[in-house]
Order: sequence, then C-alpha cells, then structure tokens
Amino acid sequence: MKTILLKGGRILDPSQSLDLVGDLLIEDGRISAIDKSINFPYAEVYNVSGCIVCPSFVDVHVHLRDPGQTYKEDIESGSRCAVAGGFTTVLCMPNTKPPIDSPEVAQYILEKSKKVGFCQVLPAGALTKGRKGQELTDFYALREAGCPALTDDGAPLMDSRLMEMALKLARQLDLLVMNHCEDDRLSMGHINEGYVSSLLGIAHRSPSAEDILVARDCILSYHTKGKIHIQHISSKLSVEIVRSFKEKGAPVSCEVNPYHLLFEEEEVLSSGSNAKVNPPLRKEEDRMALLEALKDGTIDCIATDHAPHAKREKGSLESAMPGMIGLQTALPMGLELVRKEVITLEKLIYLLSISPAKLLGVERGIKRGNFANIAVFSMDEEWVLDEKTNLSKSQNTPLWGKTLKGRVRMTIWEGRIVYNCINKGA
Ligand code: DOR
Repeated sequence: MKTILLKGGRILDPSQSLDLVGDLLIEDGRISAIDKSINFPYAEVYNVSGCIVCPSFVDVHVHLRDPGQTYKEDIESGSRCAVAGGFTTVLCMPNTKPPIDSPEVAQYILEKSKKVGFCQVLPAGALTKGRKGQELTDFYALREAGCPALTDDGAPLMDSRLMEMALKLARQLDLLVMNHCEDDRLSMGHINEGYVSSLLGIAHRSPSAEDILVARDCILSYHTKGKIHIQHISSKLSVEIVRSFKEKGAPVSCEVNPYHLLFEEEEVLSSGSNAKVNPPLRKEEDRMALLEALKDGTIDCIATDHAPHAKREKGSLESAMPGMIGLQTALPMGLELVRKEVITLEKLIYLLSISPAKLLGVERGIKRGNFANIAVFSMDEEWVLDEKTNLSKSQNTPLWGKTLKGRVRMTIWEGRIVYNCINKGA
C-alpha cells in the first residue's frame, strides 16, 4: 500500500479540537503522523495547501437502488458519487427490489460494494418483512449479515405495537431502529400543506403526519429505552418534540436533509417535481426551527437522503416520485450554512462525519493509528452540477445546472485514494 503525505492543509478534527496547518502522513492505510512539517522519503506527496483536511463523511441515509432499480443508480455509481462528495461510509436504505429484508440481500450489497471498492457501503435492513409493516424481520439474522440499523424508509412503521417490540428487540441486539415518520393516512398528497398546495390545488402532506409519529416514537423510546433515530426531520414541532425527549433522557436521535435546511415549499414553483421530496419542503418557520435545532444539538447529523430517480419518473408534481440526489451537493450546501454563520466549519464537519459515525459505530477521527479516512476540500472552488460533473445515473435535484461553492478535491478510504483531482508533487 502506498505511503501518502498530504502537505500544508488545514487539518481539522472537531472530535479532538484539532486545528493545525501542517502535514499528515499515511502509512499502511493508517495515519502515522500529524505535524507542522513532515518530510518522508518515498512517500507520494500532495500539496493540499489552501484546503481543509478532515475526517471523511458518513451518510446514514442513501438510496443506491441496487438490487432492482439500477437504471436510477447502482452500487458502483452511488459509490462514485459518495467519494466525490467526501463520504467513505454510506448506509443504504432497504427499499430496493427485493427489499433488504433477508441476510441474502444484505450480503449481496456487502459483496458487490467490496468488489466495487470505493467506500464502505452498509446495508440498512428492513424493519418488517417486505416493508409491509405487518411482521418484523429476523433482526438477529440481519445483524449477523452486517446490518447496523433497521428501517422501512420510504414507508413509516405505523403499527405502534410492532414499533414497541422492535425497540425492545433492537436494544438487546444493539441495533439502531430508524423510522420514516409520516402517518400514511395524513400524507397521501404531494407537497407541503400550505399556500403553495392551495395555489396549485395539489393534494398536500401535513406536518401533523410527521409530528404524530415523531411523538409516538419518542414516547416508545422513552419507555423502552430502545434507540430510535428519526429520519429526515423537517417540521418545527417535530424538532421541539425531539428536543424535549432528549432532555428527558430518551435515546432519541435525528438527521436532517440539506434540502430541508436551505429550501422552502415555494421551491416547487421554480423547480417543479425536482423539489418534490418526502417529507416535503416546508415553510420558513419550519426551516428556521431546523437551523436552531442544528445549532443547539437537537439534530444529530446531516444525511443526504440521496434518492435518485430517472427523468421519466419526474413528470408532474402529482405523478413524480419523491426525492433528490444529494451525495455530491451535501458539502457545498453545508458550507452555505457556514458562510451564513448558522454553524461553524467545525460543527459542519462534526455533523457530516463524527456524529453520524458514532450513530453507526464506525471509526472516524484524525488520530495516529486510526485508519486514514480523510476528505480534502476547497471551501471556495466554484463548480456547476451538470452532465460533466454529476456522477449519479440520475439528475433529480433543484441544484441541477446551478453554481455551487466548495468542492471535494480528494477522498481517502482506509489509506487508499478513492477520489482525486490534485496533482502529485510538493
Ligand atoms: O423523498 C423520498 N424519496 N423520501 C423517502 O423517504 C424515500 C425516497 C426514495 O426512496 O425515493
């Protein structure tokens, strides 16, 4: 394995308040030295001055559509997007065809992603057989097959008795239960309930749909002490509920999608179905509450909910599949919040890397002896998301064709350079 020397970057690791302009040496896949100046014969040297060097990112919510819908994405194209976005661990959702409700499908994902070899792809097992919400899957078998978390994402687990059983069982097996919180009887529409849905006369999804299930899951987690992770939180009341249950000591965590942090319901007026997502983009007051919750630690991490769909599946607002691609845009979107002084750069790195890594129990951190899982990025480089730069098989995002600021320049996974646009040489 090559010895790699990154020279002159700003090395940032919020897990240990590390902030140093200097060099980082990687030998045999691991970080072997961090110092102001390192000289090492035979190392492959990269000048990363002007760049941030930080722990690579972890995404607890991606859809790789493999097996079954590989015309939208597959493990290889999704892995390429991940590393181009600075991620070296992604948790892929089980709404595949067939769903990840058996050890065989989980093993297929693990084996294929190893063969592809760009990053760590972890399968999220389904909570219920066929994701039908009626019978729990074999949690033990899914854990043994390599699933660190379980969810029926795309669909909520509506049955409270099953959710209670799931939390108790998952607690014994040290599994993370995640839920897509939208009561399905209240979320049969297409966009947020509000002025835009009235203006367009389109059936809506109400924030109550989310709030009700978030409250129920927090209550069940409080009583069972089973860990619950709320996926793509988007409403004001939901973050208030999570905040209050965290204060009571319930083992609740939650993630937010960058689009919910930066866009509001009006976006569908200009971006059409590319701005359709479940849960939907909401109102200014919801977005403000999310930003506040990001600052005060109520929200644990940023997760992309990378949800590729083909062009033909993104027709009218009513007919379109919900979701947006997001692996390559998460960093520039996060940096927008840093520029607006909503969060610090250190906090952004924490939300994209250290905190989601803790949720999944994977190692992150720029420490001697740790595996070298590193992202190198420029804060200021501008680029356009278009046919040339997009590595996904799909193009569904309101950011298509837009200029983004901040770009990953190199990603290292366990000591191997898996994405690079920096020339060799000091
Ligand atoms: O907008 C969404 N799309 N939300 C989900 O929960 C599922 C996802 C998908 O699979 O396309």
